[in-house]
Amino acid sequence: MLSKEIEKALNSQITIEAESSQVYLAMASWAETLGFEGVAAFMYAHSDEERMHMLKLVKFINERGGHAKIATLKAPPISFGSFKEMFQTLFDHEVMVSASINELVHISLQERDYATHNFLQWYVAEQIEEEALARNILDKINLIGDDKGGLYLFDNDVKLLTVTASVDPNA
Ligand code: FEO
Repeated sequence: MLSKEIEKALNSQITIEAESSQVYLAMASWAETLGFEGVAAFMYAHSDEERMHMLKLVKFINERGGHAKIATLKAPPISFGSFKEMFQTLFDHEVMVSASINELVHISLQERDYATHNFLQWYVAEQIEEEALARNILDKINLIGDDKGGLYLFDNDVKLLTVTASVDPNA
């Protein structure tokens, strides 16, 4: 059984994951309108991943006798400046998510809820990967700057990252 405090904290994380999914969906749509298919595919896939992160929390809360609540979401921005700015926003967003997961881990230990603590380890590992991936992309885009040809190659590169990173839902 979940304590009220843990249930509330996990529910807040549902909203954070859902808002992440929305922000990345907005980034995908923006990139698509600019003709950057690779970046768009990467962001669509990332948006789906965030929805999966959210659903995992919903199931966990309900399985443990709590009630997962689906909240109103903030509307994400419509455009993101440049790709450099967009990936910086993505990186900063993931750092914020990691901090939130760390806080949840802290609360689970305070409450001696070892089942939730164990469940959260998946998110801890996922955040290490997500931050590393975002940092990797930022490094690439910082090398390119605003060079048009470079951005074209970057778009192809990111498309490959999407193929490697995407998970087959039927596997
Ligand atoms: Fe679900 Fe990208 O954190």
